[in-house]
Amino acid sequence: MTDKAQTLILFGATGDLSQRMLLPSLCALDAEGLLGDDLQIVGTARSEMGDSEFRNFARAAIEKFLPAHRRGGMADFLNRLSYSPLDVTTPKGFTELAAKVGKDRQVAIFLSTAPSLFEPTIAGLAANGLAASNARICLEKPLGTDLESSCAINDAVASAFPESRIFRIDHYLGKETVQNLIALRFANILFEPLWNAQHIDHVQITVGETVGLESRVDFYDGAGALRDMVQNHMLQLLALVAMEPPGSFDANSVRDEKVKVLRALRQLTDAESVTGQYRKGAIDGQPVPGYDEELGKNSNTETFVALKAHIDNWRWQGVPFYLRTGKRLPERVTEIIVHFRDVPHSIFTGARLKANKLVIGIQPEENITLSLMAKVPGIEHEGMTLREVPLNIAMPDAFTGKHKRIAYERLLLDLINGDQTLFVRRDEVEAQWKWIDAIRAGWEAEEKEPKTYSAGSWGPSAAIALAERDGVSWHE
Ligand code: BG6
Repeated sequence: MTDKAQTLILFGATGDLSQRMLLPSLCALDAEGLLGDDLQIVGTARSEMGDSEFRNFARAAIEKFLPAHRRGGMADFLNRLSYSPLDVTTPKGFTELAAKVGKDRQVAIFLSTAPSLFEPTIAGLAANGLAASNARICLEKPLGTDLESSCAINDAVASAFPESRIFRIDHYLGKETVQNLIALRFANILFEPLWNAQHIDHVQITVGETVGLESRVDFYDGAGALRDMVQNHMLQLLALVAMEPPGSFDANSVRDEKVKVLRALRQLTDAESVTGQYRKGAIDGQPVPGYDEELGKNSNTETFVALKAHIDNWRWQGVPFYLRTGKRLPERVTEIIVHFRDVPHSIFTGARLKANKLVIGIQPEENITLSLMAKVPGIEHEGMTLREVPLNIAMPDAFTGKHKRIAYERLLLDLINGDQTLFVRRDEVEAQWKWIDAIRAGWEAEEKEPKTYSAGSWGPSAAIALAERDGVSWHE
């Protein structure tokens, strides 16, 4: 917790992210006494409203999106809030905002607005003394649509803030089990000696979603699964799985190692990616429309992507990383599977040994499972009958009393405290875009069209074939 009086300014305070995530997260932090007594929160957006209207707006959002037992004394939290209407294209609102914030406070600025507003917002902040050395800025995705537009955003921010005061959100880094992956790898001696091409056959990362377009029609249709999910969340997961041990758990040591992995990603060949778009089908027994019906027109945007990635360094040579993500898949699930190699020689004639797997469940359940081969108890068979059994750590059971958090709670707290470890550095974002741009250029060159899949299935059959060609099955 910071001991300096601080003001958190939320741009886009009336938007969807603010309602669903930011205001509820801040309220939950406050309920646990994690916000400094002096923290003030100023919401800003285009709508004209006063402080009390904004507090009512915040109360409604919190009641809708935060369970009652986590709200604590909501009245105290609401008292921290005030509102300053602001149109980022005109100077007036900035002057009023600067006056409201005052001079002698630390300032944390959270931009959850359309990226097209980043540039004028930063100019307005700088012109009104809100980008001075007491201010840090946090940016929400999407940070561009390709390397070039991402560089333009990064340049605009860099014109007013040094990198040490820029916090780029990837909300997956705020998820508990994602951080636990770092603990698992580097707080235990067990895995590190096996964490390489000699012992690992392949890695799978799946981010499945059951939702369709939701209310983000234009954004999503302009982005697609590759840019919406792989460019950021999935590449961050991949980097955390694959990075070398950092020298310490500080922001730059961790990010130095992640960026090396991102830069070592090999360019994909045509055969190493599959795209899909859902057609009507059923999720949990309920019929759902196809993407084209939801959109109201035909489109070439992919709602599913499966990739076979390679990391060109010593540790990972010859170990494919299979990534897949999509909308309208049968389950909401995010998991990482580290698939170890077979034992070099089996002494159990006739028994089918299964290779060990480490399954890191990120959502909906937070758990870590190691699958092992074990003897089935009994004496009725000659020799031994073996079966795969799970060694399972369910995080909520291991740490009773600890509730699930919204990923933004961790990230907002780190922003307030000035810790950049779980935020993405400029060179990481740019390495991510570089790899993604090359994939998209490949798709354009071969005029790739997404293959269709039924809503409620695991994507087009070509995605299954992508892994099966190598004798690999996607984990179910
Ligand atoms: C966002 C994407 O970044 O992540 C959305 O834009 C996606 O399309 C969301 O639904 C998934 O986040 P989570 O935390 O629900 O897995």
